Amino acid sequence: MENFSVRDFLPSDFEALSLVWSLTGLGNPARGDNLEIIMQSIAMGGKLLVATSSQGLVVGTSWMTFDGRRIHLHHFGVHPSYQRRGIGKMLAAESLRFVKQKGYQVKLEVHQGNLAAINLYKQFGFQRLGDYDIYIIRDLTVIDSVL
Ligand SMILES: CC(C)(COP(=O)(O)OP(=O)(O)OC[C@H]1O[C@@H](n2cnc3c(N)ncnc32)[C@H](O)[C@@H]1OP(=O)(O)O)[C@@H](O)C(=O)NCCC(=O)NCCS
Repeated sequence: MENFSVRDFLPSDFEALSLVWSLTGLGNPARGDNLEIIMQSIAMGGKLLVATSSQGLVVGTSWMTFDGRRIHLHHFGVHPSYQRRGIGKMLAAESLRFVKQKGYQVKLEVHQGNLAAINLYKQFGFQRLGDYDIYIIRDLTVIDSVL
């Protein structure tokens, strides 16, 4: 059976990581995530974990950003060919070790129909916060039209 491990992201992982994001629906270009933003988030006290196969292939990711108040967990995904082998659990455990060591509350967003992810997050102690919707301004030119 193949072994997997979890380690910190390296800039040279970016291409492989982007592939996992696109295969898992996490890499929508509208999100604007790129290597510069990843490195910035790490410099600000966040962490990007990657799960790798014994051949060194990037098969999963968990990105935690830190805003000085809370840790936000996102881009949590496992390459479709490697799902249901416990890699999601490994990533979740390592992510929560980081959260514990950092000592801040952790928050995430998950689609209400994403039962695989919801089951996993609940197993790791996450509780549903309530009936909140999510709002975002992606296009900053919108601000000119409202001010
Ligand atoms: C959610 C995801 C990361 C799980 O990764 P994984 O490596 O397959 O997970 P694991 O094998 O470690 O399984 C962990 C738990 O997740 C849950 N789970 C995983 N796949 C599931 C499925 N298809 N249906 C129901 N529960 C599932 C189970 O509770 C499982 O524990 P169990 O095996 O003891 O029942 C993976 O399905 C994925 O990448 N999905 C697409 C990206 C995504 O939606 N990410 C979350 C964004 S918020």
